[in-house]
Amino acid sequence: MKNESASERYMKLFGWEGSPFVFKILPDLFVGYESEMDSLTGSLCNGCKFSVILGPTGSGKTTLMKNLITKIQGYERVFYVPKPPNDPDGWKRIFTEIVRPGVLRRLLSRGMMNDITIYEVGEWVNKRSRGKRLLLLVDEAHESSRESLEWLRTLTDQVENLSLVMAGLPVFEKRLMEELETFRRRIETRVELTNLTLNETRELIKKRVEWMGGEDVKPFTSSSIQYIFDKTNGFPREILRACNELVQNALDKNVSSIDTDFLRESEHHGKRVAINNLEDLPYRQKSILNILSSGEDMTPTQIVKEISPEEYSDSGNAVRSVNNILRRLVRDKMVTRERKGKAFKYRISPKFQTMFINT
Ligand SMILES: Nc1ncnc2c1ncn2[C@@H]1O[C@H](COP(=O)(O)OP(=O)(O)OP(=O)(O)O)[C@@H](O)[C@H]1O
Ligand SMILES: [Mg+2]
Repeated sequence: MKNESASERYMKLFGWEGSPFVFKILPDLFVGYESEMDSLTGSLCNGCKFSVILGPTGSGKTTLMKNLITKIQGYERVFYVPKPPNDPDGWKRIFTEIVRPGVLRRLLSRGMMNDITIYEVGEWVNKRSRGKRLLLLVDEAHESSRESLEWLRTLTDQVENLSLVMAGLPVFEKRLMEELETFRRRIETRVELTNLTLNETRELIKKRVEWMGGEDVKPFTSSSIQYIFDKTNGFPREILRACNELVQNALDKNVSSIDTDFLRESEHHGKRVAINNLEDLPYRQKSILNILSSGEDMTPTQIVKEISPEEYSDSGNAVRSVNNILRRLVRDKMVTRERKGKAFKYRISPKFQTMFINT
């Protein structure tokens, strides 16, 4: 067994051609977020000019954008920008690329591009796009400088038949609100990505397994998928991370089924992925434990107040999300719950309080 390569062991144990749970953007293996996708495609079909996709890191913004590109109809030119440029010249290049004239015309127009100023770009693009519908997708929008966003807004206003979709961390919306209200007011479609459901988590795992030539969700079972869902709160990147850890663990032990026995056994040997290792906990679970680690009893609303406001864009969502996480923490016995008058109050379990202080 020692001489076997990793890929031989994947094949032997699981019948896979390689590792399915790599952090790779695979738009074809997209699952869930149906209403968010419908809302975007619907409004883009109607020519909506400004849309925004918000979500924490790893929630699937880039994957959703790339999947949207494969689905969207009625746009003759689609242009994806992984990261906004920091100066107007960058936008000038992007807007002229959107029109993408033929090679010869591109060579001819290159010279011209140097002659026109950023103020003329809108008109230049309008002339050349000849009524074609254009779609510009800008990822990592929260990284843009204020100046860069102002140019993006102006150019999008000027170019007829252009729709803009931006994706960014929730803090992007807050920035728009504080610094660029004129931009924020133009946004007609806003979707927020949070997490996948249990069924969608299963579907994600299934698609990844089948992508590597495996069958259904094997070697996972309903109970190990439930475990993964609880541990990751259905956050796509965390699901991949958890699956990968369990698979590596199974490879080490030469075990071909990741079921309750396997989880119990791993836990017994201190290898359970969550619970005993605070560093491995998903970020939000950790931050709630951190807040509770003072030892005080708190209601979900009090906890929300302690979380930095840029984490959540509206408070109803925040309380719902915190409640979900608390439910999982209670189930994993990291937190206890007690009714105090009308409200439920939460408190960190003594064992975890000590661990928290020690880390
Ligand atoms: N809906 C989904 N279906 C299947 N896989 C997904 C989905 N969303 C995300 N993933 C997978 O999870 C990982 C993280 O997704 P992605 O990079 O799109 O997140 P992100 O929100 O753009 O994160 P960041 O803010 O860090 O850029 C990727 O490997 C991606 O393939
Ligand atoms: Mg991304």
